[in-house]
Amino acid sequence: MSDIALAVIGGTGLYKLADLQDVQAHQPDTRFGAPSGPIRVGTLDGHRVAFLARHGEGHSLPPHKINYRANLAALQALGATRVLALNTVGGITERFGPRVLACPDQLIDYTWGRVSTICEEAGTEVLHVDFGEPYTRALRRQVIAAASNADVDLVADGCYGATQGPRLETRAEIARMRRDGCDLVGMTGMPEAGLAREMGLDYACLAIVANWAAGAGPDPDEVITLQDVLDNVAAASSGLPRLLSALLVAPVER
Ligand code: HPA
Repeated sequence: MSDIALAVIGGTGLYKLADLQDVQAHQPDTRFGAPSGPIRVGTLDGHRVAFLARHGEGHSLPPHKINYRANLAALQALGATRVLALNTVGGITERFGPRVLACPDQLIDYTWGRVSTICEEAGTEVLHVDFGEPYTRALRRQVIAAASNADVDLVADGCYGATQGPRLETRAEIARMRRDGCDLVGMTGMPEAGLAREMGLDYACLAIVANWAAGAGPDPDEVITLQDVLDNVAAASSGLPRLLSALLVAPVER
């Protein structure tokens, strides 16, 4: 089996890659258990691409129940070394309104009680991986270049705040996150990014802004509905196939 050029993990509203050809489903078991669902491996513009729906294909797993370790280990076992994480998020600061695509360069972890390391089993050496730059610089650069080459608008930085969910945040929580320096808020960015670093995977986040976070938009009383979230994700994702194609043709750099 030839190597996988890119693994894509889809978030809320992104349960498959429409253009993937000759798809085979894999359900590998890992030393951490089973992934969220089948990993669909196929061909995109002549390159092997793996896709996994993070919440399961029927969106049945809440963020804190996702087996992030199994998901990444399963992709790695299939031969993936680069992971592009698609994360549906709320926008906090002005540049990150609904339907914006962003490639954040920083994150703050507000999650709790999630298994956040692969170094838990007795006898495993504890890793204290460097995480000052939480996303892989080379992969981020390639995502940003791919967006530019494909003429897809992308905000090329930003700080992602990972919250516990599954409920959305209070206005006070979002105001605090803004003061902390967060631009985006989502529920699945961690521990995924940290685990990817521990596992030696290249990892970047492509955040899709689905809504203004609580109290952050022009109408502070706006209620966030799932339908708005899904509509905005669908609209914002229209450039995704072009961006992925441009990413796949670029030579891989590390
Ligand atoms: N908060 C947290 N996660 C999200 C949001 C939000 O407003 N929108 C989409 N995912």
